[in-house]
Amino acid sequence: MADEWVTDYDDTDHEHAKLFDTLRSVRAVVLHCREPVLLAEALDVMRARMKAHFTVEEREAATTDAEAADILRQDHRALLRMVDRMRLLTATSTAERKVAMAELFAALQKHDREVDAPLFRLLRQKAA
Ligand SMILES: [Fe+2]
Ligand SMILES: [Fe+2]
Repeated sequence: MADEWVTDYDDTDHEHAKLFDTLRSVRAVVLHCREPVLLAEALDVMRARMKAHFTVEEREAATTDAEAADILRQDHRALLRMVDRMRLLTATSTAERKVAMAELFAALQKHDREVDAPLFRLLRQKAA
């Protein structure tokens, strides 16, 4: 997974790297586990970690640019809905979960590349 979200700001980049570390470890459970309870817990961990990350970003954006914070919020909500939809797949085949997880990671990477990275570069420049 390439570090395409790099913003050139160490704390933001470090947080993105940590987020993806967590998501990669939880992804393994979601893809291979056949216990519904464990799957639900893995999705809870994934959603909570994403939500915490998004909240920090939205708060930081809101201090500099309300419009930017709104754009972030909308995109973040869509990403969390993708995790919520995965809950409906936990009882079905692992192939479906694999596709849904690949779609989530692709959407998250797209968000990082096309929304987070340019937005946070801009906000940091504005705040400097
Ligand atoms: Fe982010
Ligand atoms: Fe974000």
